Amino acid sequence: MTPKKTSEEDELTFEQALEKTALEDKAKAKVIADEEGRRRRSLPVLLRGFRDILPDEQGKWNLLRTTIQQIADAYSFDRIELPLLERVDLFTRTIGKQSDIIQKEMYVFEDQAGDKVALRPEGTASVARAYINHGMMNLPQPVKLWYMGPMFRHDRPQAGRYRQFHQAGFEMIGNEEAIVDAQLIVLAFQILKEIGIPITVQINSIGTAECRREYLVELANYFRPFRKKLGEDDKKRLLKNPLRILDSKDPAVQELLAGAPQIVDWLDDVSKAHFMKVLEFLDEAEVPYALNPYLVRGLDYYTHTVFELWEDGDNGELSQNALGGGGRYDGLLELLGCRPTPACGFAFGLERIIRAMADRQIDPPARPVAKVFFAQLGDAARRVGLRLFEEFRKAKIPVAEATGKNALKAQLEVANKLNVAYTLILGQKEVLDGTIIIRDMDSGAQEIVDMKKVTSILQRKLEQSEGVNPLSHTPVADQKQGTDIIAK
Ligand code: HAM
Repeated sequence: MTPKKTSEEDELTFEQALEKTALEDKAKAKVIADEEGRRRRSLPVLLRGFRDILPDEQGKWNLLRTTIQQIADAYSFDRIELPLLERVDLFTRTIGKQSDIIQKEMYVFEDQAGDKVALRPEGTASVARAYINHGMMNLPQPVKLWYMGPMFRHDRPQAGRYRQFHQAGFEMIGNEEAIVDAQLIVLAFQILKEIGIPITVQINSIGTAECRREYLVELANYFRPFRKKLGEDDKKRLLKNPLRILDSKDPAVQELLAGAPQIVDWLDDVSKAHFMKVLEFLDEAEVPYALNPYLVRGLDYYTHTVFELWEDGDNGELSQNALGGGGRYDGLLELLGCRPTPACGFAFGLERIIRAMADRQIDPPARPVAKVFFAQLGDAARRVGLRLFEEFRKAKIPVAEATGKNALKAQLEVANKLNVAYTLILGQKEVLDGTIIIRDMDSGAQEIVDMKKVTSILQRKLEQSEGVNPLSHTPVADQKQGTDIIAK
């Protein structure tokens, strides 16, 4: 704007002026982009493989958790809560040094006292530790325990595979009989059936350590001539733990599997009889299962029965997406210094079940939807409102409100959108009179009632109004709309 600048600009040709403007625009855009980049870099970021469970999903989680809890109670399992951190050797001693979990997936660190600790990658080892620490061998056997909570594995994140995920696990410790294996499988099947997810149990027996020894030699002999065809991981497995080759996802290995020796042919008589009994019990209970000779599971502590829960009609990625898995682990407690103690268990992967629920549109509402809206005008009304909300809670009448909106019109608009049956209106006059207005949202009719009687009157009205139960649910889509509006 200075005369000098104007004269300089006057001297530019049209092309030069255009170029100058373009350069200035570019510089401005860069400043804005840098600013945006800085802003973004300073925003908090969620760790890879970790996720928030948002209000939208809570209906599914509630149904899943409640169903698990109810069926656990019905089958007389006792709940146990275990710490998230354990000494690292608890897991290295039990899960197996060559397993993926121990080799690469555990979150391990040294705490301030110099103890090497790990975020738990699973629950079975902790349950076994607790059984020993609390002398549960002195209780009537089997001890039936269940747990639910987050687990941590530094795995490669992908669909259905997280670094923090949740498991619900069931363990029966102190009984070696096949009925225990069968009862756990029936329980898993029933929980998923109750929720509405049809599954087939994939099942195998890997016998005892003794009968496996001979089989492993045979298996390694079979794969050795094909060594060149194996990937790096499978080559390592061939040397250290040939059983895990059966679990390989490599198509070249999967082709070779057809000719590989099968563990069932190496089972001793006791292992065979145990497995046959488990299958007979499953037939009896009408649980659909498929014999899967390649199922070996990724943890080393298993003996005899191993199983996984595969959703019916999955898209071929079944083994990567098991909704749960488990088996017998007769040697695990002994590894931890206990006398020989047979045990069996399984764990669900809750995120995977939630995903299956979403695929099947199983989506109950997260909480009872309010049929009553409370509109208050002024601070005196707000004060009374605090007390009234407590009265309504005790009477089990969920009430919505729009704190932050002062005008009656605006509050009634929210009430309309929430589709409530009644709105309570409390102004300064009503506070002074000890009354409150009940507005019927369908007819628009209003009546003034004694504030002391409002809870019982509302209760009666809600009971009377056809099909309206104060605790009934409305579809999630409607709730969402309501929440959004309140949020605004
Ligand atoms: P697991 O097969 O390692 O067994 O895990 C059980 C289930 O947890 C899996 O079937 C899967 O649904 C879920 N899961 C595992 N890793 C992930 C992940 N990274 N992201 C999401 N879900 C996952 C065990 O943990 C044994 N403790 C089960 C058991 C109990 N065996 C005997 N008793």
